[in-house]
Amino acid sequence: MSTTKTRDTATASANGKARTGGRGRTAAKPRTDGALPAQPRRIADAIEELAGMSEGGPGVTRLAYTPLERSAHELFASWMREAGCEVSTDPAGNTIATRPGRRTDAPALGTGSHLDSVYTGGRFDGIAGVVSAVEVARLLAAGGIDTVHPLKFVVFAGEEGARFGQACLGSKLAAGLSSVEELRERRDRDGISVADAMTALGFDPAAAVARPWNPADWAAFLELHVEQGSVLERQQISVGAVDLISGSTRLELTLSGRASHTGGTPMRGRSDALAAAAEAILIAEDVALDTRHRGTRATVGRLDVSPGSITTIPGEARLSVDVRDVDADRQRGTAAEIVRRVQAVCDRRRVRLDVRLLADTSPVVLPVWVRQALTASARDLGVSYRVMTSGASHDAQMINRITPAGMVFVPSRDGLSHVPEEWTAPAEIATGVQVLASGLLHLDRHLADLAGYPEREGL
Ligand code: GLV
Ligand code: MN
Ligand code: MN
Repeated sequence: MSTTKTRDTATASANGKARTGGRGRTAAKPRTDGALPAQPRRIADAIEELAGMSEGGPGVTRLAYTPLERSAHELFASWMREAGCEVSTDPAGNTIATRPGRRTDAPALGTGSHLDSVYTGGRFDGIAGVVSAVEVARLLAAGGIDTVHPLKFVVFAGEEGARFGQACLGSKLAAGLSSVEELRERRDRDGISVADAMTALGFDPAAAVARPWNPADWAAFLELHVEQGSVLERQQISVGAVDLISGSTRLELTLSGRASHTGGTPMRGRSDALAAAAEAILIAEDVALDTRHRGTRATVGRLDVSPGSITTIPGEARLSVDVRDVDADRQRGTAAEIVRRVQAVCDRRRVRLDVRLLADTSPVVLPVWVRQALTASARDLGVSYRVMTSGASHDAQMINRITPAGMVFVPSRDGLSHVPEEWTAPAEIATGVQVLASGLLHLDRHLADLAGYPEREGL
């Protein structure tokens, strides 16, 4: 089998957090015996084919709940049928490929991620986890390996918050955490609601809300994802096992001042909405940089100015604030502090401030025993790993409400994500696939034991 040249060499990190199979901090080559031979070439081809499905422009643009996203789900479905799975779509538009287990009454083990992207995003965010799921199905089929539990390979619909403001729409619906009101209220830049977008694609928003996944059908869920940060790359570690996933509070601030002539209006006494917004942006940065907020990230990613004319003082500025943290109190406290300080600026500048909560998702602690299946698998394979937090949102965060979830991270080159430059070498994903596949088989054995299924039905 083929493995990465650089990162598969288990290298202990400076802080000693890297681990390899029973070898502590000693550098070691990954053990390849018993590992499923994930194929980097096949992984690269699948990623390439999906990257071709884009609106055009730099990188990949394949937004949530669009025909293009559906085409990507259909391509996944065709691959999974070829791998011997039965494919269905739930009312939210999540695509689920099922591989039967030896026990028809056993709940399923799942893996997967998403195929939508941000505007001008990369080709790996979400896609790496889906292509890994496909690779696992292909490896099991080629190896004639069966499991006690059925396996479900999932592509979630609409994970990126880029279009509608809220991340993980499909998995949120699957987890029973959404409402018809939410789907009607959330709108994209063109005023199209999630409900309208779903209906246009043939999905029924009311049915999606009324029919979440049944926890009894599920045993556990694993998601492989690119790290979207630079920890693994810097520390030369092959995979991360995630313990905490950050939450996010997203606000839209509308600052309304008074538009007027840039030449005729004196500098004193203006109500310049953009000048107030400039202070607001720096406040967000300042609050997050404060030592009380070590670990908080606050970002203004959108700014719309009107009337947007060189010769008119900006009358209105609308900006987004995205606050992320693994600590729920600090996340919400930061958002509240930013609003308080922006209000003071607006008062001083005679600008009106309106605040709209776009989304508010709590951080999630992933269960230790699922993570241990991943770390034990990495150890057995001789793949270096570390336990780490996730700064981004993920479908696993929602699905953990339905069934215990775990996450495997693979390195992101230069830590870049949500940009066309996003990159992870296929061989690095292949290493992650081996840990993922081994983790699924580990959970299959462990849960079969716990359920007391007869020995001959175990692996
Ligand atoms: C999802 O990609 C997020 O923005 O965290
Ligand atoms: Mn993602
Ligand atoms: Mn993303």
